[in-house]
Amino acid sequence: MFPQSTALPSPQEIPTWVSTYGYVPVEPPPHTDLFAEIQRLKKEKNAILLAHYYQDADIQDIADYVGDSLGLSQKAAETNADIIVFAGVHFMAETAKILNPTKKVLIPDMNAGCSLSDSCPPEAFRAFKEKYPEYKVVSYINTSAAIKAMSDIIVTSSNAVPIVQALPPDWKLIFAPDKNLGLYVMRKTGRQMVLWEGVCMVHTVFSHQKVRALRQQYPDAKLIAHPECEPALLEEADFIGSTTALLNYVINSLDKQFIVATEPGILHQMRKAAPDKELIQAPTEYSCSCNTCPHMKLNTLEKIYNALLYEAPELILPLDLIEAARRPIERMLEMSRALGVISKS
Ligand code: 13P
Ligand code: SF4
Repeated sequence: MFPQSTALPSPQEIPTWVSTYGYVPVEPPPHTDLFAEIQRLKKEKNAILLAHYYQDADIQDIADYVGDSLGLSQKAAETNADIIVFAGVHFMAETAKILNPTKKVLIPDMNAGCSLSDSCPPEAFRAFKEKYPEYKVVSYINTSAAIKAMSDIIVTSSNAVPIVQALPPDWKLIFAPDKNLGLYVMRKTGRQMVLWEGVCMVHTVFSHQKVRALRQQYPDAKLIAHPECEPALLEEADFIGSTTALLNYVINSLDKQFIVATEPGILHQMRKAAPDKELIQAPTEYSCSCNTCPHMKLNTLEKIYNALLYEAPELILPLDLIEAARRPIERMLEMSRALGVISKS
């Protein structure tokens, strides 16, 4: 139930409400067919709906494209739509705006942040960086535009290993903000990096002991994990990869059972693409549902409908920030093409 459930807002009210609530808090009229209305508005306004795999199943089903951070940034960069509605979190919408700044980028709920991105505040990072003046900065895409602007190259979980491997060997590297991904990249590439000490609140709650016990219960199951998980869990994993890589692994593997250590939103596409496979969620430390990303789950069909209808909240970034943050993201896309991580077209 939204705080404002009655009359239609006047155009003057929308910005006030958005700045108060972070979204347009208007209840859609009763019996609105949200699926049909979202499709209609997308068509009418030449809008594209991009969704991350951690979105609820209904949002994934109505999206024009569902993917991991790398795929989503490629789609955002390439689209000819006038409006990009980003069903993900704030840094993803920022990346879309940076890569395609003439488009109107809408984010259904401005409050959809990211604990990992928040763990790296720009001022603290600037001071950290100053301690290593001769170092280059490799930043994970899960960062604010301000951190991207201070970086030499951006990576995602899909391309971090090959990109770091391909950087000039004489470069000294800082890696921010995910220390678990950083440690994983160091292990895979053999390169030393200075790590920022950030973590994702979702990927660090899996219980290694319970996962080990589960593996005894399901001896044939493969343990698959996102590289934001802790090193002890990653050491035991049969496969480590981005959300897209985990999905493809389940689809292509001859195995039938998988213990999945990442946010459970990805299970929707796994079930759709590989209905014969058994998917077991990796257990968490406190038997909580804290492996569900609270930021991703702020998006709802109602908020997406409102975002399209009222064209708000709109993500706006200063032009100089867009310019500064674009270079390292474009470098990532260029290197990903050159390394064959994404197609050259
Ligand atoms: P990928 O989908 O790029 O693997 O990222 C996972 C994630 O944590 C997004 O916030
Ligand atoms: Fe951020 Fe973790 Fe949520 Fe991804 S899953 S958006 S890294 S808090």
